[in-house]
Amino acid sequence: MNLYYDLFNKKEKIAIVGLGYVGMPLAVAFAKKVDVIGFDLNEKKIELYKSGIDPTNEVGDNVIKETTVKFTSEENSLKEAKFHIIAVPTPINSDKTPNLSPVEGASKLVGRNLVKGSFVVYESTVYPGVTEDICIPILEKESGLKCGIDFKVGYSPERINPGDKVHKLENIIKIVSGIDDESLDEIAKVYELIIEAGVHRAGSIKVAEAAKVVENSQRDINIAFMNELAMVFDRMEIDTKEVIDAMNTKWNALEFYPGLVGGHCIGIDPYYFIYEAEKLGYHSQIILSGRKINDGMGKFVAEAIIKKLILANKVVRKSKVVIFGMTFKENTPDTRNSKVVDIIDNLKEYGINPIIVDPEADADEARQEYGIDLIDIKDVKDIDCLVLAVAHDAFKNMSWEKIDSLYGDFENENKILIDTKSILDKKELKEKGYSYWSL
Ligand SMILES: NC(=O)c1ccc[n+]([C@@H]2O[C@H](COP(=O)([O-])OP(=O)(O)OC[C@H]3O[C@@H](n4cnc5c(N)ncnc54)[C@H](O)[C@@H]3O)[C@@H](O)[C@H]2O)c1
Repeated sequence: MNLYYDLFNKKEKIAIVGLGYVGMPLAVAFAKKVDVIGFDLNEKKIELYKSGIDPTNEVGDNVIKETTVKFTSEENSLKEAKFHIIAVPTPINSDKTPNLSPVEGASKLVGRNLVKGSFVVYESTVYPGVTEDICIPILEKESGLKCGIDFKVGYSPERINPGDKVHKLENIIKIVSGIDDESLDEIAKVYELIIEAGVHRAGSIKVAEAAKVVENSQRDINIAFMNELAMVFDRMEIDTKEVIDAMNTKWNALEFYPGLVGGHCIGIDPYYFIYEAEKLGYHSQIILSGRKINDGMGKFVAEAIIKKLILANKVVRKSKVVIFGMTFKENTPDTRNSKVVDIIDNLKEYGINPIIVDPEADADEARQEYGIDLIDIKDVKDIDCLVLAVAHDAFKNMSWEKIDSLYGDFENENKILIDTKSILDKKELKEKGYSYWSL
């Protein structure tokens, strides 16, 4: 097979199916080397891209305006491509089991439009076995073609980190895999066109699938350990950040910090792994415990806020609480599975309706998904408590005078500051007498 050369010589095309945080940067990167069809079911998104707007902020409007990607929501266009990359979401259901319907839907769609001699590579994060046991049968059924003979399949997990301008698609080693040696080689060569850091050829599709879910599970567990420490140190009245900074002077310490674990990767992927392990009769102990701890951090922070309000003699229900940040992490507009929402929900149980400020967040998504109207910082005043929930640069760079001006006219000891990301100079704040709490 010489598909790589045909792509390179623009005799054949690549189609990216699912143009979100993962698919869009991929499409743009490939378009610098080959002809790319960018397909998404969401027509509104396609229209945005066509008008040169990048709602994800991952590549930026200018890049979208200049790219040669042919954006479309017409599935027939997929027939023009011989190399398909599927990057659709892999969320969980309300009972925390994998929701594979987008992956299955995309497989049907690609299957219906698959031509002989094609490759289909999955990038969506899944548990080991999904590509071969679920996706390939769908592709075969829909196309009437035989995998391994008429078309080939591979899996290459995505490792990009939204909002991270240092670790980007091109400079992160990419794991690639294929159903056989020939397809692995072809898939590796195609990705090598755009991945400057090089590719890692995994021994099988299942190995590549597993590597992705466990690298995220490992992060989840490590953060859960830090969160557990933070909860214990809170009782011991020891500053967690100071302990971690001291601990990190050891050469083999791991640099993890406590925090809210949201988003659609670290807070989700472990459930995929747990689900498959459970089906095979293994009940996860460590991974599941980590998940429980991390999923409980919004409640823990909310309770810390309530304690501080009571200690400052505030009437809890009448307290004005403002939360800075509602995205799932810093410097991204993405609010999906944000654990800030858990803080909000828990505060509501105490009769507090917090005000949310987030200049980075996708305001439409916040309204549609959570019914939250974001407030402009200039409309914030007379507050009792400020919760710094997300470490956006915009918040980190804010002057102390600006922060202080948000509070009502009362003594510093009654100005409550909840610094979940430990971004402020706590020594200085304590010296000034603010009621300060950090995770
Ligand atoms: N966002 C990240 O940083 C990141 C990092 C690594 C891996 N991942 C994984 O990559 C996958 C994609 O994540 P994302 O963040 O890009 O999701 P996303 O929601 O930003 O984008 C997915 C896109 O797929 C489209 N879509 C859904 N079903 C479709 C279908 N049947 N056909 C065509 N398009 C369809 C949606 O409209 C959406 O635009 C997930 O499995 C995720 O876990 C994400």
